[in-house]
Amino acid sequence: MKNVIVGVLTLIVVGLMGFVFMNGRAYHGGEAGKVTEDMSTFKQSDNVVAKPTEKSDREKEDEKLSALRDKAGNAGAFKVSNEYKSKCSSCHGVNGSGMQNGKKLMGPKIIGQDAEKLYTDLIDFKAGRKENIIMKGLLMNLTEEDLRRFADEIGEFAQKAKEQNSQ
Ligand code: HEC
Repeated sequence: MKNVIVGVLTLIVVGLMGFVFMNGRAYHGGEAGKVTEDMSTFKQSDNVVAKPTEKSDREKEDEKLSALRDKAGNAGAFKVSNEYKSKCSSCHGVNGSGMQNGKKLMGPKIIGQDAEKLYTDLIDFKAGRKENIIMKGLLMNLTEEDLRRFADEIGEFAQKAKEQNSQ
């Protein structure tokens, strides 16, 4: 009796193995494996069609960007402090132009301004003599020495951009 049960179970297991082999997924070597293979070739041919347009779109984008950079006099290639980058550039641009990729940012253009004028503006914002919630809130946690440093750095932007361009 035991032998009969074992024999039947063995038959069922072998039967299941056969079934899985015929109908299982790719790694079972079944029919589905062929479907997966078909899918990959289908995708590949799809890519071949999609690639050229994708590339030309990107090329167009690059052309636009480089045209904009040329327009902006290529300013922005010079190095700025990490402090400026992290605290100011999001609104005034990486080069103080108030622009990013041809779009106007929240803050005005500050490149080309004199360090003394910048310093006075910053102090005035901080003191509330010049009304601007954004700038005041930003400068709250900065000391007058910080403002001096920012003003001196930004005051040199125009000169730096010029040097960069003449290289
Ligand atoms: C969240 C955006 C934002 C950030 C960040 C920011 N600013 Fe401004 N900034 C402004 C705006 C908006 C004005 C215009 C305020 C006005 O004139 O009423 C301004 C004005 C200024 C001005 C006066 C410019 C002018 O010609 O009137 C200076 C100088 C300045 N910011 C420097 C800085 C410095 C330095 C930092 C970094 C410590 C900084 N800003 C960070 C938004 C920002």
